[in-house]
Amino acid sequence: YPFWAQETAPDSPREATGRIVCANCHLAEKEAEVELPLSVAPDSVFKAVVHIPYETDTQQVLGDGSKGDLNVGAVLMLPEGFKIAPPERMTEEMKEEVGDVFFQPYREGLENVVLVGPLPGNEYQEITFPVLSPDPNQNRDLYFGKYPVYLGANRGRGQVYPAGNKSNNTVYNAKKAGTVTQVVDNGFGYDVTIATSEGESIVESIPPGPELIVSEGDEVGKGDALTTNPNVGGFGQEDSEIVLQSPARIKGLMAFLGAIMLAQVLLVLKKKQVEKVQAVEMNF
Ligand code: HEM
Repeated sequence: YPFWAQETAPDSPREATGRIVCANCHLAEKEAEVELPLSVAPDSVFKAVVHIPYETDTQQVLGDGSKGDLNVGAVLMLPEGFKIAPPERMTEEMKEEVGDVFFQPYREGLENVVLVGPLPGNEYQEITFPVLSPDPNQNRDLYFGKYPVYLGANRGRGQVYPAGNKSNNTVYNAKKAGTVTQVVDNGFGYDVTIATSEGESIVESIPPGPELIVSEGDEVGKGDALTTNPNVGGFGQEDSEIVLQSPARIKGLMAFLGAIMLAQVLLVLKKKQVEKVQAVEMNF
């Protein structure tokens, strides 16, 4: 869950390597995408649309081993000074597109890093973030320019809990090599007993969810899978960028282009004039 990212990485959801911390527990990789305008004006509201695609008829194993729908969640890291637009700055159309999504800053004082979810995946494969750009003319610490935007987005349950223990939405492996001597259905999953060649006997407890692929009498190697991997979800991240455009720069560019165009026309006219003089001179 997004709040486990806040708990396990309180400063930032992005590690020095560029990895978004959700990936520490959501081990499978699936695509995720953020759609942004190429450039935005200062103090303006725009949409960042996050896509978390999957087949909506997919079902996953829930905590009790039964099957259910997937939920989605995301973290969007905007450049400094950007934040979720207040409702009074949003058009009615935008409010409708955003829906009832609750946007949460990653931590106090870090409003440009935004968490959403868990949300029902059937309704939110596409999440619209209403974003307000800052105005560098009002805030001396901010500058116009091109900035990176990072997205991490997930569908489905994770494989590891914050304490490091596995969820029932993952594969279970043999801790040691040996022979499976007993498989007991304990009413909430299985206890698989493995006898090693050193005469040791270890019991692997497997919760309901992953399906057993070994039976009594099977030989297993260390690390071999005892179950299927029931996980159908996955986490994806994308690096993108956005330009905070200075209106003065655009005006300057327009003036510059206008001046060049005028100079070109004047040069052509001058050439025509020279040609006329040359034509007259040739008659003598
Ligand atoms: C569940 C998103 C970080 C471990 C979920 C769910 C979402 C989600 C949407 C619900 C899935 C469903 O019900 O279908 C995220 C995002 C993260 C993040 C966006 C980063 C910002 C983490 C971290 C951990 C973690 C850091 C581990 C420390 C899990 C586990 C579940 C889960 C174990 C399943 C819980 C259960 O149902 O028992 N996450 N997560 N997640 N997440 Fe994360």
